[in-house]
Amino acid sequence: MTSAKKTMLSAIQPSNRLTIGNYLGALKNWVKLQHDYDCIFFSVNLHAITVRQDPAELKEQTYRAIATYLAAGINADEATLFIQSQVPEHAELAWVLNCFTYMGELGRMTQYKDKSAKQGQNIPAGLFSYPTLMAADILLYRTHLVPVGEDQKQHIELTRDIAIRMNNLFGKDLFQIPEVYIPPVGARIMSLQAPTSKMSKSDTDVNASVYLNDTDDQIRKKVKRAVTDSGTEIAYDEEKPGVRNLLNIQSALTGKPIPELVAAYAGKQYGHLKVDTAELVVEAVGPIRNRTDELMKDHGYLEKILAKGAERARTRARTQLKILYDRIGLVNPNG
Ligand code: AMP
Ligand code: TRP
Repeated sequence: MTSAKKTMLSAIQPSNRLTIGNYLGALKNWVKLQHDYDCIFFSVNLHAITVRQDPAELKEQTYRAIATYLAAGINADEATLFIQSQVPEHAELAWVLNCFTYMGELGRMTQYKDKSAKQGQNIPAGLFSYPTLMAADILLYRTHLVPVGEDQKQHIELTRDIAIRMNNLFGKDLFQIPEVYIPPVGARIMSLQAPTSKMSKSDTDVNASVYLNDTDDQIRKKVKRAVTDSGTEIAYDEEKPGVRNLLNIQSALTGKPIPELVAAYAGKQYGHLKVDTAELVVEAVGPIRNRTDELMKDHGYLEKILAKGAERARTRARTQLKILYDRIGLVNPNG
């Protein structure tokens, strides 16, 4: 690589439109930290097909994710940007990691338990082995730091366990052991309709999430309809998950500490909190939405960035795979 910076890598599934949870938990921090690292960001479409997707929709969302990264402020000249399926080394490494990961470990993953419970029967094997593909995403690039929301922490821990296991078997320097970065606020934005559950882009209730391509009006309506409790006092309290969530959103957007926000709302009503939060969200999302729409009209530009990114990523990923194949006794494509 050209720089001596450490590597930061992250990704989002293009399984639906992105939400402010994705923005505050992940994307905003990528933008903030990007200049200190050699950055790799991609759209994980192979992960997205662990649940059924409409093919045309999937393709559109895959590009939209990349356009959104750029619109949110990722610098296309510095970061390596690509689509996961453009770099076949991800699927290749995932297979190898599958052979060094235990069923018990995968079965303990909270995301798997939640998603498989929702699915009921006919659970795809890919949903179960999903974390080994994510580990491959990370380990292919000797990644130092992975900025994600709280829900992904367990997957990064598993990635570390697999890497340490393989390093013990095949040499300490085989894989770089990655660290997780979880933001101090915004790591877990909750549903606006059920504030004890995580805001999820696949929620069937569209009012539960603010999407990054919602109109200003839609955003205002959703935030104003956010479920709060029947009290009146604005406090950061376990018993007030709806109010807490709005305060967290404000804090993540403005950088203001929670106590400062709470103090400013002394004597005010929930209505004030909702109106202010709605305006802050509109201010943050509006420009990202408009820029994403512009970029989506310029497919040539996106394709150019992606082709460059995928090529860079492939070269780097192949180097790591060659080392791995040599160590474990697999014959490389070129012998
Ligand atoms: P996903 O939507 O599962 O592909 O998640 C992409 C990134 O967004 C990951 O880093 C997640 O941890 C983060 N993320 C997703 N939902 C939320 C949420 N409700 N609050 C905070 N971060 C989130
Ligand atoms: N599994 C992550 C999620 O659902 C997305 C993801 C896939 C990811 N590969 C990754 C995140 C590598 C960080 C690094 O949010």
